[in-house]
Amino acid sequence: MPAKKPVIELNGLVKKYGIGDAEHRALDGVDLRIDAGEFVAIMGPSGCGKTTLLNVLGLLDRADDGEYHLDGDDVERFSGGRRARIRSEQIGIVFQNFNLIDRMTVIENVALPLTYHGMRHIKRLEAASATLKTFHLSEREYYLPHQLSGGQMQRVAIARALVNKPSLILADEPTGNLDSRSSHVIMEELAELHRRGNTILMVTHNPNLTSYASRVINMLDGRVASDKKIRVAAVSEEQTIVLRTPKKTTASGELAPKKATKKKRSKKTAKEKKS
Ligand SMILES: Nc1ncnc2c1ncn2[C@@H]1O[C@H](COP(=O)(O)OP(=O)(O)OP(=O)(O)O)[C@@H](O)[C@H]1O
Ligand SMILES: [Mg+2]
Repeated sequence: MPAKKPVIELNGLVKKYGIGDAEHRALDGVDLRIDAGEFVAIMGPSGCGKTTLLNVLGLLDRADDGEYHLDGDDVERFSGGRRARIRSEQIGIVFQNFNLIDRMTVIENVALPLTYHGMRHIKRLEAASATLKTFHLSEREYYLPHQLSGGQMQRVAIARALVNKPSLILADEPTGNLDSRSSHVIMEELAELHRRGNTILMVTHNPNLTSYASRVINMLDGRVASDKKIRVAAVSEEQTIVLRTPKKTTASGELAPKKATKKKRSKKTAKEKKS
């Protein structure tokens, strides 16, 4: 079997904030290799550098020292244009604080990443609408972000991160504002993307959600403190089915009666068929 290709390879990555006596190393020598198709949960106490790491990985920020290879390429050599193109075509980011644009409607927010794809306006809105439907937000398309609940904002932020079908998904506490049932709806969507071969890095404070991941990394003081692969066999078949049965919600975010459907791995999802 050919060796898996690393999507992300970090060697001694350092990110500093402040200068002189006030200098603080938010990342203090991170070594990490993430292969295509991994679902990595990143945990660690507040301030240990999780968001800083995702910002560097998502090409939103630059490291001060060390190396970052993305798909085998040294990102330090990328021009600003190439960084922006990779961000818009390959990376989906769910921000910890949503980063929705308040003067734009929900559908415009979600369509935003497609602006860089040269897609016509109407096509962009259609794609955004289809993604919003997945997150049971169709009835909120023309709302402004401030008219939404925290959980709805979070789902819009996730829809926006996924609308361009990125292969690498960086999610900073994507379920931070959701109750446990709504969290599992989001986790199901991420699990489905993982099953389709996407690479996912998800920051979470919730140890229960790490059961969706194939690997759990704990950070401490800007470093990787522990790194564990989770063997699928460690989760019983019964547990897998319970955790991975999609829990549909209604437009208002309430849980809808559960349908006992079992999707085949090769079957196209409704979203894919539409596109
Ligand atoms: N723009 C900035 N300027 C100065 N210091 C910063 C900046 N961003 C982050 N830091 C500092 O870097 C450290 C890591 O911050 P980071 O946001 O990555 O933590 P985190 O692990 O995501 O925490 P949380 O779980 O609370 O979100 C913190 O000490 C923080 O104060
Ligand atoms: Mg953070």
